[in-house]
Amino acid sequence: MIAPPLTHSGPVEAVESMPPPKDNLQIEVDLLLTGIQKRYGYDFTHYSHASLMRRLTKAREDAKVLRFTELLDQLLHDEKAFDTFLMHMSITVTTMFRDPLFYKSVREKIVPLLKTFPFVKIWHAGCATGEEVYSMAILLQEEGFLDRARIYATDFNKQSLAIAEHGVYPAKQVDIYASNYREAGGLQRFSDYYSNGYDLMKFKDSLKKSITFSYHNLVTDGVFGEMNLICCRNVLIYFDKTLQDSVLTKFAESLRYGGYLCLGNKESLNFTSVKKQFETLDAKQRIFKKYGGLHAL
Ligand SMILES: C[S@@+](CC[C@H](N)C(=O)[O-])C[C@H]1O[C@@H](n2cnc3c(N)ncnc32)[C@H](O)[C@@H]1O
Repeated sequence: MIAPPLTHSGPVEAVESMPPPKDNLQIEVDLLLTGIQKRYGYDFTHYSHASLMRRLTKAREDAKVLRFTELLDQLLHDEKAFDTFLMHMSITVTTMFRDPLFYKSVREKIVPLLKTFPFVKIWHAGCATGEEVYSMAILLQEEGFLDRARIYATDFNKQSLAIAEHGVYPAKQVDIYASNYREAGGLQRFSDYYSNGYDLMKFKDSLKKSITFSYHNLVTDGVFGEMNLICCRNVLIYFDKTLQDSVLTKFAESLRYGGYLCLGNKESLNFTSVKKQFETLDAKQRIFKKYGGLHAL
């Protein structure tokens, strides 16, 4: 007897809809990311693929193992190894008054309105070792409203946060800091804001009293409410489009109407679901303003 021909809605379709086989490397990476998520709660699945692979490979090489599954074995059983891994996963490059013209724009375009409020809440998300937070504190002090402000400085890298909270940096960088400060429109001498000894400089405690440093993971944690200004610069660049969209949605929820959102100079709101909630205040410096109540969509 002749078997009936396979119809298009039968087994052929089932085969076509199966996902293509993944190569072993991708399977190992998936296992590594799932294991890390289950064991430590960190979710890297929506970090941008090329830079994620570069950093995972560097972490594997430094751990002196050949396969990502061997790296997973290490990380599951050794929390110290995970701390080292996390340093690989978080690029903490930053500086005082990074992109000085951004701070100039904040001073000229945001501060005049912000300083009229009785109290101001600012969130630096992904603040790394804290230099941008001290930059903002200096700016607010010069504009006379640091004592009416609360600055939340957050990152998911606890080692970076500890440095930020300490506020002590190598003195060899001070010339670059001072030059950025001047270009950013600083009104005093940069040396007014720190004391130094040996090879280190320490920011004055008066700058710190309005800052709260805390652990926060942008992927998995909720948001702070009623912010007037959110700075999340040079962080979204490491996320894929899906994660960028989800984090930007959190920021839009966190901001008050009329609040400001500042991104890094390679980051934008284009092609995101929140774009319509913001007007562009300074396209070059990536400063956006959430529409007020009447304009909210
Ligand atoms: C390149 S630094 C940017 C520092 C600073 N914002 C600046 O522009 O100079 C990126 C920071 O984002 C942090 N980061 C990356 N993923 C994060 C996440 N899911 N939650 C919180 N911080 C994160 C890293 O730990 C790192 O400190």
